[in-house]
Amino acid sequence: MRNMSDDHTHVQEFFTARAADWDSRFPDDGPAYAAAVADLRLREGDRVLDAGCGTGRALPPLRAAVGPSGVVLGADLTPAMLRAAAEAGRDRHGRLLLADVSALPLRSGSLDAVFAAGLIAHLPRPADNLRELARGVRGGGTLALFHPVGRAALAARQGRRITPDDLRAEPNLRPLLARSGWRMTSYVDEDARFLALAVREG
Ligand SMILES: C[S@@+](CC[C@H](N)C(=O)[O-])C[C@H]1O[C@@H](n2cnc3c(N)ncnc32)[C@H](O)[C@@H]1O
Repeated sequence: MRNMSDDHTHVQEFFTARAADWDSRFPDDGPAYAAAVADLRLREGDRVLDAGCGTGRALPPLRAAVGPSGVVLGADLTPAMLRAAAEAGRDRHGRLLLADVSALPLRSGSLDAVFAAGLIAHLPRPADNLRELARGVRGGGTLALFHPVGRAALAARQGRRITPDDLRAEPNLRPLLARSGWRMTSYVDEDARFLALAVREG
């Protein structure tokens, strides 16, 4: 039986092996991240968390959106990804935290928004983990679940088929978010992007 630390070890091994060349594998994704951040409609001074920030590709557009008075945090549980983020200078745009998004070192309701790119498929207990993200966000705050490639294109790239139980399929994701304190407000799954937006209930 897998326990929580097995899950972490697996994620850390997987991403440690990929950290050094993560950015060079996907050199053209910048505009897609900027467009997804724009859809989150952050305001000057907002406090935003990039959950599972990896090498921090979203941190520059997040900082641009909230301005110098805002707060940008990037949390990841793989040290090698955070090291690559710092080496790429992304720590100039936000504070990097070695942290598990299933137990955020943040006060309840202290965030205006969470941006999470490529994260949800790696979460061992998605409902609990999305609920923890909701805990960190004030009522009316927002969540973006993003991937620069849509579900079908990603499955093709990885040589697998999409199954009906796919977490990110709209009929699965909408109730999952609802059970976790979020109301889904929009859903796009195209070859060039996956983006689900949600609002924190309450
Ligand atoms: C597919 S990568 C995406 C990285 C980055 N968001 C991007 O778009 O380039 C997923 C990241 O999520 C991190 N991750 C997975 N599970 C996590 C958890 N429970 N808490 C924090 N980070 C996690 C991994 O270490 C990895 O860096």
